[in-house]
Amino acid sequence: MTRNILVTSALPYANGPIHIGHLVEYIQTDIWVRFQKLRGNRCIYICADDTHGTAIMIRARKEGRSEEALIEAMNEAHQRDFAGFDIQFDHYGSTNSEANRSLCAEFWQALRDDDLITERSIEQLFDPEAETFLADRFVRGTCPKCGSPDQAGDNCTCGHTYNPTDLIDPKSTLSGATPVLRESTHLFVQLEKLHAFLNDWIDTSGALQTEVANYLKGHFLADELRDWDISRPAPYFGFEIPDSPGNYWYVWFDAPIGYIASTQEWCESNGEQLANWWRNTDCEIHHFIGKDITYFHTLFWPGMLKSAQYNMPTKVHIHGFLNVDGKKMSKRDGTLVAAETYLKHAGPSYLRYFYATKLTSRVEDLDLGIDEFTEKVNSDLVGKVVNLASRVGKFAHATGLSDSYPDDGGLFAAAAAAGDDIAEAYELGEYSKAMRRIMELADTANPFVEHAKPWEMKKDESRVDELRDTCTVALNLFRQLAVYLSPVLPELATKCGELLGEEITSWDQSKKPLVGIPVSKFKRMMDRVQPEDLKKMIEESKELAAADAAAADQPTFDDSDQPLKDEPLADEITIDEFAKVDLRVARVISAEHVPEANKLLKLTLSLGGEEHRQVFAGIKAAYEPEALVGRLVVMVANLKPRKMRFGLSEGMVTAAGPGGADVFILGVDDGALPGQRVH
Ligand code: 2FM
Ligand code: ZN
Repeated sequence: MTRNILVTSALPYANGPIHIGHLVEYIQTDIWVRFQKLRGNRCIYICADDTHGTAIMIRARKEGRSEEALIEAMNEAHQRDFAGFDIQFDHYGSTNSEANRSLCAEFWQALRDDDLITERSIEQLFDPEAETFLADRFVRGTCPKCGSPDQAGDNCTCGHTYNPTDLIDPKSTLSGATPVLRESTHLFVQLEKLHAFLNDWIDTSGALQTEVANYLKGHFLADELRDWDISRPAPYFGFEIPDSPGNYWYVWFDAPIGYIASTQEWCESNGEQLANWWRNTDCEIHHFIGKDITYFHTLFWPGMLKSAQYNMPTKVHIHGFLNVDGKKMSKRDGTLVAAETYLKHAGPSYLRYFYATKLTSRVEDLDLGIDEFTEKVNSDLVGKVVNLASRVGKFAHATGLSDSYPDDGGLFAAAAAAGDDIAEAYELGEYSKAMRRIMELADTANPFVEHAKPWEMKKDESRVDELRDTCTVALNLFRQLAVYLSPVLPELATKCGELLGEEITSWDQSKKPLVGIPVSKFKRMMDRVQPEDLKKMIEESKELAAADAAAADQPTFDDSDQPLKDEPLADEITIDEFAKVDLRVARVISAEHVPEANKLLKLTLSLGGEEHRQVFAGIKAAYEPEALVGRLVVMVANLKPRKMRFGLSEGMVTAAGPGGADVFILGVDDGALPGQRVH
């Protein structure tokens, strides 16, 4: 029976590039999706960028661009990186979409209707310089227990955990300012009201790995579930809560709803109904996530889905973290390798295969040993799998495949029979087992070619039939491996399809050999990994990290693009046109209110000597007259005098800003003299 399966990976944050740690999950998921499609199931792979929250707001500010510009650029970069690793989404959206906004409103209403929302005021640290409330991770200070300086907002290296407000001498990591306590209203989901439901779901659905179910029951469900703080006060980059102006949904509220919103966009462009996927229990929902976000996907998210009456997850596949050479990835060591950097030095198939050899259905961390990586790729993929094809490939173009499948001592049949086991391993996420089984098949296939010695047959024309049979066996055994490996190595599958004139699209192609067909000219299928390339990759990552660190020490500017949006640049002019405007330095020698005018100040400007000008300037809301006297300003000195109700205005003082109190007179640096021209 064809299954309908909707698969997601965690939505990556839009505040940073994809690195090899992230790729564990996207590769793991992509393999599973490709496997399902190969098996003939209807399967869609949905993802999106996770775009909201303080971190993105702060980063956009620092980079002096809007959040929208930042997330758009990131979305492009993420999609490019994923494509570089052959990760094939059916749809890749963004949580900052209209579809998501309206789904959030729908989920919100459902929570309200179920009486699950409560409101209360909380005190939180606020950065008076950055003008934002501070999540725990944006506060550092001295541990109240052991006195170690520069500790994180919620825990110290001594093991002590606390609230950021308990820190001694806390500092905002955003501005370095000392945060102050501020009160604001927050909205909460009363998760405890769903306690019994969640307990039951965890017990009976089979959606969670046993170790995960046990962990949740031991850590969270044993006690009352705490209310979940689901709102953030402005300023916050996200969706404003419709019935709570000035408050925004916390990013973790709208992020998982993004799974549905992105599906909806896919539905719209594919003539599908969202309800068929998310509100139809015939459709399976599979989430792939890392262990750090277990809580969100196994308690909050199911609670939200239940309330809004969408499908519950069929399965949440949780994986561990990536280490490199036995250590946590680190920028300094160059082991936190960006996807883009990796691709400059090594092929995507290597990493896909390597991760596949490491992944199991358990929540275990995996280690990328650099030597092991080289060894596995070179000995398994190049030495065993590709070798099978390359040893006969160059002869097969001349011979083609035999008309009937020759006696191979039962190799093809045995490998076909192994298909079910391998498929089951893929289905269960036991990729490492699947890879082992496939390599065992490669181990039995290679000796066949070694014994047959096709390179000797090639020298003797009378043995051409034998040679053709050998090619037929070797290439069919190779093709079986290519089919089994195709979820992991789509590029190899494509090349195999090109060689034998039949694209690999179905698992069942492993069951029947190809006979009586021509074989294309053999092209190299895969090169060995060069350890020097990996060294270069690490070196380059180190350099990039050092450059980043240096850049972080540079002052950053967070200028908004609003002024230019409000008033776009004017048409181009020539220097001669500009020269027509005679700008001069002038000193304000008197300034006074004009009783009848509510916006104007009357200024007397000196251009030096006896040259004085009277100017009416619309700056009353911005400046006290006394504060102006003595200042040097820039005036338009050749502006045609204008007769106003209060007298003659003989020029104009230059100023920036939209008007009202936001007017800023242009000054000049010390040393300039009244009367000097401004060029
Ligand atoms: O942890 C993370 O990287 C989050 N951006 C994952 C979000 S997954 C989902 F809920 F959207
Ligand atoms: Zn401590």
